[in-house]
Amino acid sequence: MRLVLMGAPGSGKGTQAKVLGKRIKVPHISSGDILRESIRRNSALGVEAKTYMDRGELVPDEVLLGVMEERLQESDCGHGYILDGFPRTVPQAEAFRTMLANHAAHLDHVLWLQVPTVELVRRLSGRRTCKECGSSYHLSLDPPKKSGVCDKCGGQLIQRDDDSEETIVARLTVYEKQTTPLAEFYRAQHLLSEINGVGSLDDVLERMLGAIGGNA
Ligand code: AP5
Repeated sequence: MRLVLMGAPGSGKGTQAKVLGKRIKVPHISSGDILRESIRRNSALGVEAKTYMDRGELVPDEVLLGVMEERLQESDCGHGYILDGFPRTVPQAEAFRTMLANHAAHLDHVLWLQVPTVELVRRLSGRRTCKECGSSYHLSLDPPKKSGVCDKCGGQLIQRDDDSEETIVARLTVYEKQTTPLAEFYRAQHLLSEINGVGSLDDVLERMLGAIGGNA
């Protein structure tokens, strides 16, 4: 199954994609994680991407599309995947459609997580991420057992560079302008399901499973 998970920054894409991926046995592929890993390795891609990400802007398509096409051709993607953060604009969705057509493949569902802005800001400003394994926590909504330490690997929890108040506002503006038109693109293809992203992690997961036909 090939799935796209779309939603505003902080809507829970990464959190849900990890769990849903395990349930339906496909890899979770996050464009943001790929870019952050490039920054960590200080690669040419990472150096270029960082300048955009720190401002809350989108990384240009000429930088991103090749990286995503390469990732989607890796062997673990043979039976599908959940995409988190890609495509993010209509031109990216058109390029993605061409990638799929070149491999005689098709997209099965697009799930659009809906969360009010006030809740998005609350989630992003309290998010802490493990420096080692990337696991995500929230200071009050989903705290680690020991403050500042990852439950899973013992790594240090840090705040993402783009989770500062100023950059959160910039990211939400970019989302409204550049990503929300994608919903219409996929609605016209009868692929889009809107999912209420507010509630417990299990409740949101159940809604997503319901929208894709509970395929396990
Ligand atoms: P990316 O990494 O994709 O970030 P984003 O879209 O801004 O989304 P986030 O990762 O911030 O949020 P999320 O929806 O995954 O929420 P999460 O599950 O963590 O992109 C970062 C940057 O990379 C972009 O700004 C851009 O520069 C660049 N980029 C990436 N893709 C690109 C592309 N295709 N083209 C161009 N540039 C690109 O949850 C957030 C918090 O809420 C967590 O603390 C979590 O614990 C908590 N939480 C989650 N669910 C719930 C719930 N149900 N109830 C309570 N708390 C919850």
